[in-house]
Amino acid sequence: MVLGIETSCDETAAAVVDENFHVRSSVVESSLDQHRAFGGVVPELAGRAHVATIAPVIRRALDEAGLDHLAPALEGVAVTNGPGLIGSLLVGLSSAKALALVWDVPFVGVNHLEGHLFAPLLESTGLEWPLMTLLVSGGHSLIVLQRGPGEHEVLGETIDDAAGEAYDKVARWLGLGYPGGPEIDRLAGEGSSNALKLPVSMIGEDLDLSFSGLKTAVVRATERHPEISVSDVAASFQFALCEQLLRKLRQALGRYDVKGVALAGGVAANSALRAGVTNLAKEFGLVAHLPTMAMCTDNAAMIAAAGLYRLRASGASGLDLSARPNWQLADVS
Ligand code: KG4
Ligand code: ZN
Repeated sequence: MVLGIETSCDETAAAVVDENFHVRSSVVESSLDQHRAFGGVVPELAGRAHVATIAPVIRRALDEAGLDHLAPALEGVAVTNGPGLIGSLLVGLSSAKALALVWDVPFVGVNHLEGHLFAPLLESTGLEWPLMTLLVSGGHSLIVLQRGPGEHEVLGETIDDAAGEAYDKVARWLGLGYPGGPEIDRLAGEGSSNALKLPVSMIGEDLDLSFSGLKTAVVRATERHPEISVSDVAASFQFALCEQLLRKLRQALGRYDVKGVALAGGVAANSALRAGVTNLAKEFGLVAHLPTMAMCTDNAAMIAAAGLYRLRASGASGLDLSARPNWQLADVS
C-alpha cells in the first residue's frame, strides 16, 4: 500500500491505495469556505489551513485503511510536489518527508496533473489503453494522449486561462459565488444557449485551447444587452466553452487510434461536458471514462496511485526534493 498526500491548492487530502489500485481510504478536507468571500483561493489562508489540518487528515486516512500509526505496512509515501501554490505544496511535502524518514519507507514526489490522469485506473476495471484524456480544472486545461499508465503526451493546452478559471471569472462578473462552475452549470439548465451569440475560439487545426476571448465576449455582450437573464448568459457561455472543448477532442480522436476517452479535473463535473463526451465516445465507438464527483476534484487517492506507479517505474525521490510550483506535465519523466 502507498500513502498519498495532496496539498497543492485548497484541499488537504490523504489516502491509502493498494497495489491493485483499490482505494483503502481517502480523506479530503477543504478550506474553500475561507476563500469564498475573496472570489478565489487566497494562498496565505490555504497554507495556514493545511498546517492546521494535515496531521488529523493523515491520521484518519491511516485509521480507515487499518494501518498502524507508528509502523504502517507501506511500500512508500507519495506527495504532490507541483504544480501548485508554493506555501501549500511545502506543507504536504514536509509532512511526507518527515513520515517517510520516521517510518523508514521510500518517498516519492508526484506531479499533480499526472495524479489526475490516474483517476480512471482507480474507478474502471479492465481499463484499455490508449486513452484520450481531457484534463480541465481551475488551473489547467490539456488534451493528453495516454499510451499507458505514466506514458502521456500533451497534444494541446490552453494558451491563456484554464476552463475552470473562465467559469470562475464569468461567474464573478455575473455576481455569482465562488467557485463559479457549479452555479453556472445549474443556471445553464434553466436558460437558452441561443440567447447570446458567443465566439467558439480556436477553430484551427492545432489542439491548443483558449478561453480568455470568450470571457471578454461575455462581458461585452452583457454590457450591450443588460436585459438578457443570468441563466441565458450562463447557458450561452457554457455552450460556447464546451463546444470548443468537444470540437478539439473530436479533432484529437480523429487523429489517434485510442480505446477510450476520459475526463479529469474539476470541470469534469460539468453536466454539458459529460453529456458531450458520452456522445463523442458513442460516435467513435469508445469507452467513456467519466470520473465520479469525488474523483474529478483534488484528492490524494489519485496521488497515491501515481506514486505507486512512479515508485516502481522511476524509483524513490531523494529527501532533498523541492516543490515545483510551475511543473509542467510535459516535463514529467
Ligand atoms: O480540479 P479542481 O477541484 O481544482 C483545481 O483547479 O485544481 O477544479 C476546480 C474548478 C473550479 O474552477 C470550478 O469552478 C470548476 O472546477 N468546476 C466546474 C464545475 N464544478 C467545478 N466547472 C464547470 N461545471 C461544473 N459543474
Ligand atoms: Zn487538480
